[in-house]
Amino acid sequence: MSFKDHFPKDKRVLQELVMQREFWARRILMLVCTLCCIANSHAAPPNMSSAEIDRKVASTLKHMTVKEKLGQLQQLCGTWDGDALPEDFELARQGRLGSTIFIRGAKRTVELQRVAVEESRLHIPILFAFDVIHGYRTIFPVPLGEAASWDPPGAERAASIAAAEASAGGVRWTFAPMVDIARDPRWGRIVEGAGEDPYLGMAMAVARVRGFQGINFGLPDKIVACAKHWVAYGAAEGGRDYNTAEVSERTLREIYFPPFKAALDAGVGTFMSAFNDLDGVPGSVNSFTLSKVLRGEWHFDGLVVSDYNAVNELIAHGVAADGKDAAAQALNAGVDMEMFSRLYNEYGGELIKERKLSERTIDEAVRRVLRLKYQLGLFERPYADEAHESATLLNPAHLKAARDLAARSFVLLKNEHGTLPLNPELKSIAVIGPLADDSRSILGSWCGDGRKEDAVTLLAGIRAKLPATTKINYAKGCDVAGNSTEGFGEAENATRQSDFVIVAVGETADMSGEAASRSSLDLPGRQLELIQAIQAVGKSYAVVLMNGRPLSINWVASNSPAILETWFAGTQGGNAIADALFGDANPGGKLPVTFPRSVGQVPIYYNHKNTGRPAGSDPKSPLPYLDIPWTPLFPFGYGLSYTSFAISNLQLSAGRIRPDGSITVSVEVKNTGDRAGDEVVQLYIHRLVASVTRPVKELKGFQRVSLKPGESRRAEFSLGPRELGFYDRAMRFAVEPGEIRVMVGASSESGLESSFEIVQP
Ligand code: NOJ
Repeated sequence: MSFKDHFPKDKRVLQELVMQREFWARRILMLVCTLCCIANSHAAPPNMSSAEIDRKVASTLKHMTVKEKLGQLQQLCGTWDGDALPEDFELARQGRLGSTIFIRGAKRTVELQRVAVEESRLHIPILFAFDVIHGYRTIFPVPLGEAASWDPPGAERAASIAAAEASAGGVRWTFAPMVDIARDPRWGRIVEGAGEDPYLGMAMAVARVRGFQGINFGLPDKIVACAKHWVAYGAAEGGRDYNTAEVSERTLREIYFPPFKAALDAGVGTFMSAFNDLDGVPGSVNSFTLSKVLRGEWHFDGLVVSDYNAVNELIAHGVAADGKDAAAQALNAGVDMEMFSRLYNEYGGELIKERKLSERTIDEAVRRVLRLKYQLGLFERPYADEAHESATLLNPAHLKAARDLAARSFVLLKNEHGTLPLNPELKSIAVIGPLADDSRSILGSWCGDGRKEDAVTLLAGIRAKLPATTKINYAKGCDVAGNSTEGFGEAENATRQSDFVIVAVGETADMSGEAASRSSLDLPGRQLELIQAIQAVGKSYAVVLMNGRPLSINWVASNSPAILETWFAGTQGGNAIADALFGDANPGGKLPVTFPRSVGQVPIYYNHKNTGRPAGSDPKSPLPYLDIPWTPLFPFGYGLSYTSFAISNLQLSAGRIRPDGSITVSVEVKNTGDRAGDEVVQLYIHRLVASVTRPVKELKGFQRVSLKPGESRRAEFSLGPRELGFYDRAMRFAVEPGEIRVMVGASSESGLESSFEIVQP
C-alpha cells in the first residue's frame, strides 16, 4: 500500500481504493475508473463541457443586476426542521437567494425551487445545502468512529450513500468532510473529524470526498463536498469552541493543512472558512490561508463559503469596524458566499459605488457560484422527485452498510480472560445504563435528517439478536448527567437476576459537537458509581462506551473485565453492537486519537517531539508530571480483537535510497487465533537527525487486513518523497539525507523496527 493509493495526485486518479482485492479486480477497476475520470474532468455534468459551462456563466452574468449578483452570494437558513421561511419565497422570486441551509426534502425543496426557476427573471436555481456529516437519513457512525474503522473504502461507501439520500431529498451541497485535526479532546467538535493524525485524516478526507462527489458531482445521486473549517479550527485554545488558534507555520503545513490538501487533490468542490482567528487574523479575512495558500499555492478555483455568521463576527473579533467594513474585507479576501449574515447584500452596492469593492471581485464570486450550479446540473435538473426520495431513504442496502461500518468502527479496549464475545445461548442478560435505550444519542451530533424513530438502540439490538426465551433485564440505572442514584437499586437487582451484564455509559449526543466542549474527560454524572455498584454485585460484565471524544476512564480500564468503545454508531448502532457483543462481528477498529489518563495531560498525542529531555528515557530525570505517568491511558492506533495476530518478518527493499527514491516496507501478518478477524497494520517512521526537530513517530501507511484463523498475508507499504519529506528550516518541503527508523506494528506503541538511510547521490 503506497501513499498514492490513499491519496491520488489529482482528480484523474479518483478511484475506489480497493486495498486488499485481487490483482485483476484492482486492475480492471482502475482502468474503468480512469476512463470515467478522464471523460468527466472538471466535474462537468455528462452533457456539458467545462468550456460550455464557462460560456453559459459569462452570458448569465452579463444579464444580472448588481442586486441579483449579490443575491447569488447569499446563503440563508430555513428552520431546523427543514422548512423554508415566507421570506425565502419572496427572495427566490426576486432572484436573490443563491443558496439555503437546512431546507430539505423533495417536497419542500421543489416548492421553493419552482419559485426561483419559474418565477424569477433569470431562472437561476437555488443550491440547497445541509450538514450531511455522517449520513442524511440513514445515519452512519460519527466521523471519529468512522476514522476508528481505519477503513477508507467503508467511509467512502457511507458518504456515497449519504449523497444518494441527500440528493434524493433535494440537497446537493454538504458541509463535509470536516477535516480539522484535533489534538484536544475537550473540544466538542473532535467528534466530527478523523482525530489527531494527518495521515489518517488525509485518507479519510479523500475517501469522504470521493464518496460524496463520486467521479463527477454533477451526477444526479452525487453532491458537492466542502472541506471545512479552513483552517486550524481544531487548535482552539483550551478546547473552547470558536477560540483563538496560535499555530506555527510549520505545524500548519505539516499537521493542519494536509487533510485539506488531500481533499483538494481528490477534487473537493468547495471550502468553508473557519470561525477562529489564526495568528490574529480570522478565517474569513485571512490572506495567508485564503489567498497565499489556498488560491495561490494550491490553485483552488472553487467556491469558498463563510461559516455561519462568520462575516458578521468579524466585528466582534475586532478586525472590522462595522458590517460594511466586514463585507468589504471578506469579499476582498476571497470569501465568495456569506452564510446567514447579510452584509454582502446590505452593503455590496454601496461598496462598489464607493470603490471599496470592485465589481470584478463580485463577478468572480458570482461566477464561482453559477459555475457550481451548472456543474451540479441544477439548471437541467432543478427538482427532486418525491417517489425517488421515498425509494432511496433508509433502503435496506443503506441500512446494511450502516450496520457493517458501525461494527467496523468499534474498538475493543479491554477483554480480560475472553469475557467477550458472549454466548448467545445464555439464559439471562442485564442491559443497564442511561445509554442502553437512548435512541437519540446513538445517532450522535449533526445527524442530518436522522430520526430517533429509525434508530436501533442497544437494548433493541440485543432483543433482536437473542431468542425470545432469553430473559433480558433492563434498567436505566441513572441519567448520563445529574446526581440521582435512585435507579441503582433496580440496576443491582437486574444484575443479580442475570448471567451477564452489559453496561452502556458515556456521553449524550449533545455533549460533543459544536459548542459542546467539556472541561472534564471523566464519565459524566453518577455513571462510574453505577458501574462500581454493578461490579460489587459480583457478576461478570462488559462496559459499552458511547461517546464523541476520548474519555479518561481510569477506574474502568483497571477494574472492568471488558470495554467496547462504540462511539455514536448511527441508525443501526444497536444491531451492530449486538453483532460485536455476540461475536457475529469481530471488533477490529483502532483508536484514531489518544485517550488521556487525565484532562491535565491535554494536549497529548502520539506524534509529539522528543525534546532535549525525552520523557521516560532516564529513570533519574524528571518526568513531565509528578502525580501521574506521562503515558496515555490508551495510545493512538490501539485496539484488540477476539482473535490474536502475529506481525513478523519485517523487510525493507533497500538499505539506502536517494532523496527522490522510494522504498518498499513489508511484513507478514498472521491470524494466530481461532476466529476470523481484522488487524490494522500500521507503519510509522522516525527521522533520527534533521535540520528541525521531528516527531517521535509519524504514521505513514496502514492496511486493515481481514484474515481467517491460521491465514497469513504480507502487507506492503511504499515510502517515497511525500512520506519522507518535511518542512526544513527555510520552510521548504525537502527530503534531507539521514537515517530513518521504520516501525511496523498493531498500534503506535509497539512494533518491529528496522532502518534505512537516505543518501545524496
Ligand atoms: C456552523 C458550523 O461551524 C459549520 O460546520 C456548519 O457547516 C454550519 N454551521 C452550517 O450549519
